[in-house]
Amino acid sequence: MIKTINLPKILDERGNLSIIEGESHIPFDIKRVYWIYDVPGGEFRGSHALKDTDEFIVALSGSFDVVLDDGKEEKKFPLNRSYYGLLIPKLVWRKIENFSTNSLALVVSSKFFDADEYIRDYDQFLNAVK
Ligand code: TYD
Repeated sequence: MIKTINLPKILDERGNLSIIEGESHIPFDIKRVYWIYDVPGGEFRGSHALKDTDEFIVALSGSFDVVLDDGKEEKKFPLNRSYYGLLIPKLVWRKIENFSTNSLALVVSSKFFDADEYIRDYDQFLNAVK
């Protein structure tokens, strides 16, 4: 299920702190963490779906839009705070665009990297979700 999730935010005069614990704040065990940064203006990332991997994405810095498509409808999720994120379940086509200068996208994933997990062809994706 696609949804945004609010993360704990520990307010402190010394600076705030937020947390992601696997199977607690997000509904899967964390196997991998990666981040996307130094994205040139106008570029986009993604444009694929993952067969059996759930992911959770947070704008640790700056802002960007995550466009999700479940095969029926497309919806845009602007992310611009480090204390909430977007749950992207398996078999959802995602594109990340409109990166602001110096934005940093953190992605936590339910699986180790596996190139065979990717569906990069949109028609193949539509067949897979049918
Ligand atoms: P890709 O997932 O296509 O990038 P994005 O969806 O953000 O546009 O990954 C880009 C390249 O990085 C591709 O060659 C696979 C490699 N990669 C890894 O080796 N390990 C990883 O965990 C990820 C996410 C990508």
